Amino acid sequence: MGLSLSHNEFLLMQKYISEQCGILIPEEKAYLIESRLAKLLAESGAKSFAGLYHTLRNQGLNKSLPQKVIDAITTKETRWFRDKTPWYALEDVLLPRYIREIRQAKRPKVRIWSAACATGQEPYSIAMCIDNYINQRGITDIKLSHFEILATDISQAALQTARSGKYDHLSIARGLDDTCRARYLKQEGRVWALDEKLKEAVRFQQFNLRNSYLSLGKFDIVFCRYVMIYFSEAFKQELRRKIISVLNPEGVLFLGSSEIYTKYKEHFELVEYKGGIHYRLKKHQE
Ligand SMILES: C[S@@+](CC[C@H](N)C(=O)[O-])C[C@H]1O[C@@H](n2cnc3c(N)ncnc32)[C@H](O)[C@@H]1O
Repeated sequence: MGLSLSHNEFLLMQKYISEQCGILIPEEKAYLIESRLAKLLAESGAKSFAGLYHTLRNQGLNKSLPQKVIDAITTKETRWFRDKTPWYALEDVLLPRYIREIRQAKRPKVRIWSAACATGQEPYSIAMCIDNYINQRGITDIKLSHFEILATDISQAALQTARSGKYDHLSIARGLDDTCRARYLKQEGRVWALDEKLKEAVRFQQFNLRNSYLSLGKFDIVFCRYVMIYFSEAFKQELRRKIISVLNPEGVLFLGSSEIYTKYKEHFELVEYKGGIHYRLKKHQE
C-alpha cells in the first residue's frame, strides 16, 4: 500500500507544484498527489511526502526529480482534432486569409503556437488541417512550410511521445477519421507512425508557461487549450497577458470550448463561427 498524505504534506506539495508549473490542486483533489506521485515516492527512497518535498527543495539531492514530479502530476489528456469548431474556423476563415496575404506578399509565413501540446495530437492536427486544405484545392504555390508550427509543453515525457510521432491504437482511435489515418499514418506492428512530412512541419520545445515569452517571437495563432483550467485565477490572468504580448495584431487565440474568458473585450474581438468562438486581437490596442 502507498504512503498517505497528511494535510500539512498536502499544503507543502500543493505550494511546490503551483510554484513550479502554475497547477493549483484543490484540497478535494489531494488524492491526485497521493496517486500520481506514489510510484515516484517509492522510487525516490523518501519515507514520506514530507521527505519527498525536502528532496525536491534541496535541488542537489536528486536533480531529475522535479521533472519527474511534473511529468507525473500533469494531466496530458488530448485527442486529434479536439473540439470540432477550431478546425472549421481554421479551414474556412483563417487559412484563406493567410494564403491570400502570402500571395500578396503581405507576409512571408504564418506562425502558429500550440502552447500546451501534450503528446502532439493538437499540433499534428493543425499540420494535417493545413496540408489537407492545400492538397484538396490543388494549391501549388503555397506549401506546408509556409506555416511554422511551434509546439511546447512542460512535460518531457509528453514531448518524447510527440517527437517520436508514434501512437498506439487507443490514441489513434481518439478523434482521427479514416481518411486522415490512411493519409498520414502507417501501421508498424503495434504502433502507428506519423508521416515524416508532418513530423518535419512541427517543432517541439520544452517550455514552461510560467517563463518569459520573449524568446518565442510573435504568432498569428495561439492554441492554448485545456491547460488554463488547471491554473489559479491569478496565473490565468498572467497567462492571458503574456499570450497577448506574443500575438501579432489581429492574431487569433483558441481556448478549449469549455474555457470561459469573460474579460476579453479590452484586447480582443470575439469571432463566432459555426457554433465555436475564437478571440481576435484588436488591431490597435487601447
Ligand atoms: C490536458 S493537456 C491539453 C493538451 C492539448 N492542448 C489539448 O487541448 O488537447 C494539458 C497539457 O498542459 C501541460 N502543462 C501543464 N502545465 C504547464 C505549464 N506550466 N507549462 C506548459 N505546459 C503545461 C501538461 O503537461 C499537459 O500536457
